[in-house]
Amino acid sequence: MSDLFIPVLLGTARPGRQSELVAAHVLDTVKQRFGQTELIDVADFPISATGLTESPENLDRYRETVGAADGYVLVVPEYNHGYPGELKLLLDAEYHAYGRKPVGFVSVSSGMIGGARVVEQLRLVAAALRMVPVSPAVHVSNVAEAVTADGRFTSASLDEVLAEMLAELDWFASALTPARAAS
Ligand SMILES: Cc1cc2nc3c(=O)[nH]c(=O)nc-3n(C[C@H](O)[C@H](O)[C@H](O)COP(=O)(O)O)c2cc1C
Repeated sequence: MSDLFIPVLLGTARPGRQSELVAAHVLDTVKQRFGQTELIDVADFPISATGLTESPENLDRYRETVGAADGYVLVVPEYNHGYPGELKLLLDAEYHAYGRKPVGFVSVSSGMIGGARVVEQLRLVAAALRMVPVSPAVHVSNVAEAVTADGRFTSASLDEVLAEMLAELDWFASALTPARAAS
């Protein structure tokens, strides 16, 4: 097990969100591979507009967590082919902490396409934030059938792709963490 710190960011605050169950399973899997992780729940950081001076008191904690991270996993539902606004507001509350760190995506959808479109949009946002998006991504379609009530994937292939994505994240984080420290 590595000593990399890879938090999992749950990117929707929607009441009744099904992405929460997916994020719990992803968090467990990240914990098994990396040991150090924690859930960053966008619902804990309500931001009503970009750049407000009266931002949530706990925003410093968000900045500390993403600053200490060696990489990120984003669990995100697709809303009208894009990402939830609350996720973008939270990502935009920081800039420097993300640079030269890998990010992997898990998209969640009640439809057939599994949120593939939101991941493609987030790759552009991640690049603007100077993250390094890894290529393998997990697309959870028909989420009501894809996840059990106790938060496990019903299909082994989803766990296989999740493992592939985390392996790639591990490779980049293992390479980039010492490289950032040396530069
Ligand atoms: C505002 C809104 C827009 C949505 N747009 C899409 C969409 O573009 N594509 C899609 O597959 N599902 C879409 N959905 C359905 C989500 O896939 C569904 O809610 C799923 O459970 C994941 O989101 P959740 O974590 O909010 O539950 C949308 C849901 C909402 C609330």
